[in-house]
Amino acid sequence: MEPSRNLALELVRVTEAAALAAGRYMGRGDKEAADRAAVEAMRMMMSTVHMDGCVVIGEGEKDQAPMLYHNERVGSGDAPEVDIAVDPIDGTRPLAMGNLNSIATAAIAPRGTMFYPGPFVYMDKLAVGSEAKGMVDLDASVADNLAQIAKAKGSSVDDLTVIILDRPRHADLIAQVRRCGARIRLIPDGDVAAALMTAWPESGIDVLMGIGGTPEGVLAACALRAMGGEIQGRLYARDDEERSRGQQLGYDFRKRLTMDDLVSSDDVFFAATGITDGELLRGVKYFGSGARTDSLVVRGLTGTVRQVRATHQLSKLRNYTGVSY
Ligand code: FBP
Repeated sequence: MEPSRNLALELVRVTEAAALAAGRYMGRGDKEAADRAAVEAMRMMMSTVHMDGCVVIGEGEKDQAPMLYHNERVGSGDAPEVDIAVDPIDGTRPLAMGNLNSIATAAIAPRGTMFYPGPFVYMDKLAVGSEAKGMVDLDASVADNLAQIAKAKGSSVDDLTVIILDRPRHADLIAQVRRCGARIRLIPDGDVAAALMTAWPESGIDVLMGIGGTPEGVLAACALRAMGGEIQGRLYARDDEERSRGQQLGYDFRKRLTMDDLVSSDDVFFAATGITDGELLRGVKYFGSGARTDSLVVRGLTGTVRQVRATHQLSKLRNYTGVSY
């Protein structure tokens, strides 16, 4: 096959734009304003990408979200026909509070290949890097999964580190992991970055477990598919009303969603840019007339992972795009 266009290299401009806009709101306590700025910048830059994009994972349905809503058409309208997933800010709370690990992220995959979770906001997740791919099963017990990961990595369970969102709903999961003897990293927010860390050897993270957002689950699936890792998920209903609504809409809350269910193509592109400092990516730094961003750019067909440090001339960008970063 001939080498071909790498859409991820265009996608990174989209996540950089969102990060540059959102970074201004670090610590200002205003989640809504930060989100608005990130969405507007992301939408503006997305329109420059030559593609016929359909937003599958966006900011909600049209009625609640003026931009980047589910089913919105984005891009120039030319081929290729693609599905789009965006999270202009994963970690809105840490950004607004001036804390760590907030990122801007987006993914592209061929049309019809991304899972649409409907209105259901939570998903149980199990994510690992390439060594343990094919060895885990969301239907198996925590103990069995940890034993399999340890075996795949040639280590023992007490060498493993499990990353988990720090939420009361995870009390039982945390107790189970402790009983197995594995170590735990509790994070306040940001399980897209946490999923990426499982595929990033220097991070020291072996597995992500627990319930987080469904949009974040699909984005993590795109990233891990491209990076050679694996994520499985299961929609999580918060109450009976949500469960019966799911049934009416044809969703099965017992079904284990495999990587293929979440994104069924290897021809996937993923980009993420740090907004606030994190372990994977540094946050936006502003200085005088410029700013520096740090991004991760991944292409599924080749498995190439690029780390892109960019220096932006904000005054030139302002004149050129009309956006005041
Ligand atoms: P947002 O910044 O988009 O709100 O998401 C932050 C986040 O921590 C996600 O990374 C995670 O999947 C989700 O929230 C968990 O939801 P909740 O905070 O309701 O437990």
